Amino acid sequence: MTNIITLPGLIDCHVHFREPGFEHKSTMKTEATSAKAGGVSCVCEMPNTNPPCVTVDAFADKVSRAAQITDCDIRFFFGVTEAAHLEELKDLWTNHPELKARCSGLKLYLDHSTGNQKVDGGIVEEIFKICAALKIPLIAHCESPEINESAEKFLREKAEDTVIDSDVSLHSLMRPAASEAESIAYAISLVQKYNTPFHVAHLSTAQGIGLVKAAKEDGLPITCEVAPHHLFLSIEDYKELGTLGKMNPPLRSSLDQQALWKGIEDGTVDCIATDHAPHTLEEKQVTPPMSAPSGVPGVETMLPLLLTAASGKWEDRKITIEQIKKLCFENPNRIFNLGRSDTEIIEVDLDAEWTIHAKELHSQCDWTPFEGWEVVGKVVS
Ligand code: DOR
Ligand code: ZN
Repeated sequence: MTNIITLPGLIDCHVHFREPGFEHKSTMKTEATSAKAGGVSCVCEMPNTNPPCVTVDAFADKVSRAAQITDCDIRFFFGVTEAAHLEELKDLWTNHPELKARCSGLKLYLDHSTGNQKVDGGIVEEIFKICAALKIPLIAHCESPEINESAEKFLREKAEDTVIDSDVSLHSLMRPAASEAESIAYAISLVQKYNTPFHVAHLSTAQGIGLVKAAKEDGLPITCEVAPHHLFLSIEDYKELGTLGKMNPPLRSSLDQQALWKGIEDGTVDCIATDHAPHTLEEKQVTPPMSAPSGVPGVETMLPLLLTAASGKWEDRKITIEQIKKLCFENPNRIFNLGRSDTEIIEVDLDAEWTIHAKELHSQCDWTPFEGWEVVGKVVS
């Protein structure tokens, strides 16, 4: 007997598909295949491509590339690092309805990450103002550049660079929890000031969850997402994963991890989104380890991991199928005005037991931080 259920094709509101500019890592076509195999029918793709997606022309180029892709409906975030890009976004939003329809909003980096797209701090307030006025969904990578910088400096004063750089687990100390908390608190202060609907990307800490919960209780228009790698992995996993566990924000403590699950339970968390960020194995397995690029793939493994949690296999990781529907379809659909229909469905065999092996997944990068995990639940069509 099989136990097949249907779900709306999922929405993953945070992916990096790397095209144009980094096709050696992946392309829209390869990662759309991976998304489809993982039950994800729609994604919102990030602007740290090359050229960076910070002009109307660069945006239009991505839209025309996506028109060739049939496995997945790809929407795009616009990026802004300087004032001129904000002018481009205003132009796109007001004068190009066909591009606006493909634009999920504006992505800000409050500190550098892969692609070095940290926004000029002097224009952040203006961005919050404009997004509120034009109703542009605003999402940010929240880490404090000052705290990250001083945390790294502190560590490098304690030991030789060669020692630090050989231990990738120190990445989590170089981008500490306090950095995320400080940055979220700053963003919340701007939400308070301008009433801008604001979404926290890949929230990873207990403090962050606490801040978002309190802001919601104050009635502020704030939402957040958490990533499967922060839900299912912690700093304990560096031992196994080495550089394959390096991402931004970094792996956190098991207490942070528990706080994210609690945030799902109490409704603080609005979306689960993968931050799917393929890099080649060659790039990841470099010396010294600390120089490996940050980012892990995840678009194809999100649903099986969540379904396994829903099956009750893991006592400390609880979620229901109804919550999966909310967090991976209804909420992102609403927050980013994606207009996806729940009549476009996927079928999932809830009893299918299988083991995650990168060689059977479809991402071009050919590795996964969940290699060897035994899961239940598989997309059958
Ligand atoms: O780990 C990450 N990888 N975090 C980011 O912010 C960017 C992403 C990437 O593009 O590789
Ligand atoms: Zn990202």
